[in-house]
Amino acid sequence: MDNFKTISESKTVMTELMIPSYSNFGGKVHGGVILSLMDKVAYACAAKHAETYCVTASIDTVDFREPVEVGEIVSLLASVNYVGRSSLVIGIKVLSENIKTKTVKHTNSSYFSMVAVDELTHKPVQVPGLILENEVDIQRFITAMHRKELNRYYRQEGARIKAEYRNPDFMEMLKKERCLLKAGLE
Ligand SMILES: CC(C)(COP(=O)(O)OP(=O)(O)OC[C@H]1O[C@@H](n2cnc3c(N)ncnc32)[C@H](O)[C@@H]1OP(=O)(O)O)[C@@H](O)C(=O)NCCC(=O)NCCS
Repeated sequence: MDNFKTISESKTVMTELMIPSYSNFGGKVHGGVILSLMDKVAYACAAKHAETYCVTASIDTVDFREPVEVGEIVSLLASVNYVGRSSLVIGIKVLSENIKTKTVKHTNSSYFSMVAVDELTHKPVQVPGLILENEVDIQRFITAMHRKELNRYYRQEGARIKAEYRNPDFMEMLKKERCLLKAGLE
């Protein structure tokens, strides 16, 4: 009998104070600090569901909607949105709270694709299935399935364009861009 688990069994929240050493030259928190925290919470959530070691396979777009200030408290909310055979998509929402004003900003969200691997062989291993308990769970599972398909399409298109970049249509498009071809490359 296949093993299935609920999303709430692996839901993870991580909270961290933004200290001055996390800041960039502009005095805001470095984007890399937030990405590192996102990777940690994605790992914790994936490993709880998979009950084994997991690796980050890919990360969906991360748009920083608002800067995070030093002194704010960042909370990262992670849950399993989708499972395949050995892969898991972890949805992450990042909130940043100003301690004095109590204002909470939604600074960014992203989806991390993690793969459960055997600790010795490092080969992908099967993860438990997912029990979808409400409309939000179903919506997240289906949108993750769709994103997976879109990503496959983008990868194929990227490879095709790389192979055909000298296509006259692309060269025509270049004329509208802010670039110049060095003499002899036309
Ligand atoms: C991720 C990794 C384990 C996949 O190994 P692989 O031999 O290519 O495995 P497979 O092709 O059999 O794919 C296994 C699963 O990973 C998924 N997968 C592979 N590459 C992926 C990617 N780039 N994005 C999302 N999912 C991916 C597959 O869809 C498959 O999912 P499924 O089992 O649910 O169907 C391997 O590429 C790896 O170890 N990468 C390095 C990871 C790492 O070190 N991360 C930290 C970077 S510092």
